[in-house]
Amino acid sequence: MKSKEIRYKFLEFYKERGHSVIPSSSLVPENDPSLLFVNSGMFPLVPYLLGETHPEGKRLVNFQGSFRSDDIEEVGDCRHTTFFEMLGNWSLGDYFKEEQLGWWFEFLINEIKLDPSKIYQTVYSGDGDIKKDEESIKILKGIYKKYGIEAEEGPSIENNFNPEVSPEIDFKKDRIFTYKGDNWWQRGNAIGELGGPDSETFYDTGKKHNLAFGRFCHLNCDCGRFLEIGNSVFMQYQKSSSGWTELKNKNVDFGGGLERLAMVSQGVNSIFKTDLFIPIIKKIEDLSEKKYENNVKEFEIIADHIRAAVFLIGDERGVVPSNKQQGYFVRRLIRRAIRYGKQLDINSKEWLSNLSNEIIRDYKEYYPELEKNSAFIFNELYKEEEKFNLTIERGLKEFKKIKKDEIISAKDAFNLYQTYGFPIEMIEEMAKETGQKIDKKGFNDRIIKHKELSQTASAGAFKGGLVDSSEKTTKLHTATHLLLSALKTVLGEGVVQRGSNITSERLRFDFTYPKKMDDREIREVEGLVNKYIKDDIPILVEDMSFSEAISSGATASAKKYPEKVRVYSIPSVSREVCQGPHIKRTSEIGVFKIIKEESSSSGIRRIKAKLN
Ligand code: ALA
Repeated sequence: MKSKEIRYKFLEFYKERGHSVIPSSSLVPENDPSLLFVNSGMFPLVPYLLGETHPEGKRLVNFQGSFRSDDIEEVGDCRHTTFFEMLGNWSLGDYFKEEQLGWWFEFLINEIKLDPSKIYQTVYSGDGDIKKDEESIKILKGIYKKYGIEAEEGPSIENNFNPEVSPEIDFKKDRIFTYKGDNWWQRGNAIGELGGPDSETFYDTGKKHNLAFGRFCHLNCDCGRFLEIGNSVFMQYQKSSSGWTELKNKNVDFGGGLERLAMVSQGVNSIFKTDLFIPIIKKIEDLSEKKYENNVKEFEIIADHIRAAVFLIGDERGVVPSNKQQGYFVRRLIRRAIRYGKQLDINSKEWLSNLSNEIIRDYKEYYPELEKNSAFIFNELYKEEEKFNLTIERGLKEFKKIKKDEIISAKDAFNLYQTYGFPIEMIEEMAKETGQKIDKKGFNDRIIKHKELSQTASAGAFKGGLVDSSEKTTKLHTATHLLLSALKTVLGEGVVQRGSNITSERLRFDFTYPKKMDDREIREVEGLVNKYIKDDIPILVEDMSFSEAISSGATASAKKYPEKVRVYSIPSVSREVCQGPHIKRTSEIGVFKIIKEESSSSGIRRIKAKLN
């Protein structure tokens, strides 16, 4: 079945069962500093899972673009991607296990036409106060029976785990298995996060077990025989300081990967052989004059990374390549894809940015923002590709020169990073391929030192540049952080803060930029700051070590910092090492107005602005 049809049937099936279709949200979480990317469909639904009333009712369904940065290293194994589409349905304190599991099996077997004898299921084995999910086991046995299968609970792998002794699983009758860690789902680890036991659905691909992954195969074995195609989370707990407490509502949070459903439904052995990827794989074959089958890893990395980059740049909160936070991921995806393109001897110019058309064409019907932002997507990819093309060849040569050394010194790694623009993860990957290690600690020390050197002191006469900590001054101080971010967006990431001085009347802000800003740029910066103000974004504060702050993407503008610093972040806008004080929400600032843009000294511009 075509992926298009699966997407459509999923929505229709749940619509017929009283669900409202909700839109796919941005890949970049709004006002949530705890995660960089939306990694599952439940993300925008947290308040409703906690008990708030959803305007569309208690039964919801959608497809949602999701991005899992942690899976980047797994891409190339035929079944992982960074970006994927998650089909999701939710019960907000309405139906529970019986309907969820029953409907899902009905969908798989009657709608997608999967063979029920190839479907396997895991459930929660219990831990501490939260008991084994006997209820789901009973429900599942009943469901299998409906499809003519006598399903039994197989031996618990976790409890009897002995890698030398097979637990004698009989996959003909054993179909339901319990696990602990693998059958508990929570989005993050902080107090307040939601969680619950889950029940995962696996499909037997028929692939032969690979002994490299252990003596025997089981559902969560990494050999690839059993493919996870969906997860029903029984979301009924919230994390508190004393453990997991029950929520008012018993919710269902279901997610299934469209790519994997397409894979099993189309009977192919890789996500990249489904109709979702065939056109792009074909294009890469044309470009490289090589076959996917002979270069699986390279092809999958390029196809995945270009698709993910297009979605991230084309997102309604478009992420552009940069050196921090989300932008850094986009940079990593693009540069890694370019490097793999080199391995395939793709030599045509701007090949990567040209591939964006393929992706946009295939997805615009479902994600109209991609078409709307197509010029922007192409442009950002093009600029990044052009930039990296200038240095990659020479960087690869440099890398070859240091190949013989066992440990790649901090100096060499830093040179590849700084001069040739190789993301550190890429250097690590290259080192792994040649069996080398990197002096990572030395590298990190250099990064910190470099940032210190490239930024001049602003903390002169005033502590943090503030004359006092009156309310007006504090508002202007927060506005300064917004201003720096807006300047980087409008003038480029090269803008570095060179000084700040704030009185209760105005802010004065110095930054690096080689020429006078024109009127349009000034208005754009002003407009962006006022947009951030209007967005009413909370200002968050955390304490951490200086090196943690830098590696988490915070900018620092003074010369010297103590070991422990404070980081103020305005989610999706700014993250700076700063002593404060700041206001609580951007909306408190009022209206921001630039009153002057002038030269401060050679290569340094100065902006004066006030609040109305
Ligand atoms: N939120 C659940 C998951 O991502 C459905 O697996």
